[in-house]
Amino acid sequence: MKSVFAAMTAAVALMGASSIALAGDPATEVVAMVKADGGDCLACHAVDHKVVGPAWKDVAARYKGDSDAENKLVAKITRGGKGNWDKVTGGMAMVPHPSKPTNAQLHEIVKLILALK
Ligand code: HEC
Repeated sequence: MKSVFAAMTAAVALMGASSIALAGDPATEVVAMVKADGGDCLACHAVDHKVVGPAWKDVAARYKGDSDAENKLVAKITRGGKGNWDKVTGGMAMVPHPSKPTNAQLHEIVKLILALK
């Protein structure tokens, strides 16, 4: 009985530790979340440098203080398109994402993108 309890305590401690580590680092968390959600985002984006699309930390800087940014960005990712980052991308367009990741998953991903520093 004692050892079962010890094992459970250790497991809880481990779970706690990993979620604290993730919560403290949106850069790690957003990459893990996109992979878990099956998003193609990382083919065109990275957290800290331009790939095809803008660096996500530049996106965070641009929309800092914009209280509607989460909704606007989820809508943009869903329908795809270009125009906001032409100077960075040379006019490349983002492909639409109508269903994968889901709308709920996109809200979580965008919250993390906006939390990047
Ligand atoms: C085919 C390449 C490609 C893929 C795949 C892609 N993006 Fe993009 N993304 C772009 C480009 C290009 C832009 C710049 C669009 C513009 O200039 O308005 C962009 C812009 C963005 C922006 C900023 C939008 C704005 O209007 O400021 C966000 C946020 C973003 N992408 C997130 C994502 C997420 C999350 C995914 C995965 C679900 C994803 N992207 C998948 C190419 C891509």
